[in-house]
Amino acid sequence: MIRIGLLGCGNIGHIIARHAEEFTIPAVYDTIPERAGEIAGICKGEAFRDFGAFLNADTDIVVEAASVGAVRAHAKAVLLHKKNLVIMSVGALNDSTFKEDLIATARKTGTKIYIPSGAIFGLDNLKIGQISPLTKLLLKTTKNPQSLGLSVAKRQQIFSGKANECIKSYPKNVNVSVAMGLAAGQDADVELWVDPAADKNTHEIFIEGSFGESYIRVTNVPSPDNPATSYLAALSILSLIKNIDSPLVIGT
Ligand SMILES: NC(=O)c1ccc[n+]([C@@H]2O[C@H](COP(=O)([O-])OP(=O)(O)OC[C@H]3O[C@@H](n4cnc5c(N)ncnc54)[C@H](O)[C@@H]3O)[C@@H](O)[C@H]2O)c1
Repeated sequence: MIRIGLLGCGNIGHIIARHAEEFTIPAVYDTIPERAGEIAGICKGEAFRDFGAFLNADTDIVVEAASVGAVRAHAKAVLLHKKNLVIMSVGALNDSTFKEDLIATARKTGTKIYIPSGAIFGLDNLKIGQISPLTKLLLKTTKNPQSLGLSVAKRQQIFSGKANECIKSYPKNVNVSVAMGLAAGQDADVELWVDPAADKNTHEIFIEGSFGESYIRVTNVPSPDNPATSYLAALSILSLIKNIDSPLVIGT
């Protein structure tokens, strides 16, 4: 069974811990030790207070479900410890120097960096943009203002521009736009909307290119403990882990 080191014991971390059946989680780490302790209790792992000790634990892969800051602080060390890495806070890879350094480190250490599909569908085929550049790549996201810590009376647009700018202002909310850009090989356009009537997070993706055109609308159920996070995002990590060693590779 694959052995996971869980970096980040919040909402996604809880969902992963509760599904630890076909994998084990021997090691968990969070800057808030109580959270790590709670998750360790759920998955019968060990909660580490020292990141170095966490890295030295007997694990095959580290699943980051923490923050952009956690990726920046720890991703390279994970790879240097010859462990594969799943990154949820993909906004960290918006910094191309950092991203290239991680890729070079993974190459040198024979490890892999996985970016799950997260809160959207379609990330797989966006990679055609690397072969035939897309003429349109737009993410239109609508969330309840509360999940962004805002209070507004009616639906309104709070950002319009490139993903690499949007992620700087909303590092917890538009990770998918950075993932789309990484897949397609070109920066995505983003429109971020807040709507007090929205009880679900909605991602609409508009794609045009030499292949034709596509429109994907994903209406996500917010996770119970954190309305900013879509349940689909946690499920996408679980499906990635379930298939990681399979000889049959689908939709990549
Ligand atoms: N790619 C996607 O589609 C997608 C979708 C949803 C969430 N996310 C991202 O995944 C991450 C986790 O989401 P969540 O809903 O579980 O968040 P959360 O806020 O519920 O939990 C994050 C946990 O990580 C811990 N943490 C933060 N920084 C840390 C650090 N430097 N070292 C150790 N622990 C740290 C926090 O204490 C917290 O317990 C967030 O960055 C979120 O933006 C990505």
